[in-house]
Amino acid sequence: MFRPLIRRQFDRLAPVWDAMRMEDTLASYEAALARIGDPVERALDVGTGTGAGARALHQRFPSAEVVGVDLASGMLDEARRLVPDVEFVEGDASKLPFGDASFDVVAHNNMIPFLNEVRRVLRPGGWTLFAFSSGPETPIWVEPDRLRREFERRGFTDFAEIAAGRGVGVLARAPGGD
Ligand SMILES: C[S@@+](CC[C@H](N)C(=O)[O-])C[C@H]1O[C@@H](n2cnc3c(N)ncnc32)[C@H](O)[C@@H]1O
Repeated sequence: MFRPLIRRQFDRLAPVWDAMRMEDTLASYEAALARIGDPVERALDVGTGTGAGARALHQRFPSAEVVGVDLASGMLDEARRLVPDVEFVEGDASKLPFGDASFDVVAHNNMIPFLNEVRRVLRPGGWTLFAFSSGPETPIWVEPDRLRREFERRGFTDFAEIAAGRGVGVLARAPGGD
């Protein structure tokens, strides 16, 4: 019901989105990514907007195939222009257009969680990350304790909360790894 509104809102914001970005927008996202020591072949940035998180994934895991997904085609047009090394796909985070167990990392910066889909597309033992760039002041903010409970209910392990800049990142590992 809200999807067309969200899409319209972000399509309108697309041309000015990067100009609105604060210097430390990705600090907690990058700090959490730095904790992932496992080999990464395929990584996904959900709610990628203009692709800043996808670019950070590509820089952190240069040999990985990186994909960014978003509802808003206007944001994706900007992302394709700004981050040519990454594939960008239009799609809904509540029904991701990817197969089961198809990613080693599924990351989000300032994005609403759809944890059942994250669980589905992550390979066993894969990592997920939710970063909120202004901590509790972020317009999209989910309390880390609440995320932890939701992760644990789905069998995720290795929960970690990482503060960097004004932001907070939350990292967790899908069940079924070694
Ligand atoms: C607050 S912006 C964050 C963009 C980017 N991650 C960043 O940090 O610059 C949220 C983004 O999520 C997208 N979005 C919102 N709901 C979505 C959904 N259900 N599926 C996919 N993308 C969605 C919006 O279009 C928007 O680009």
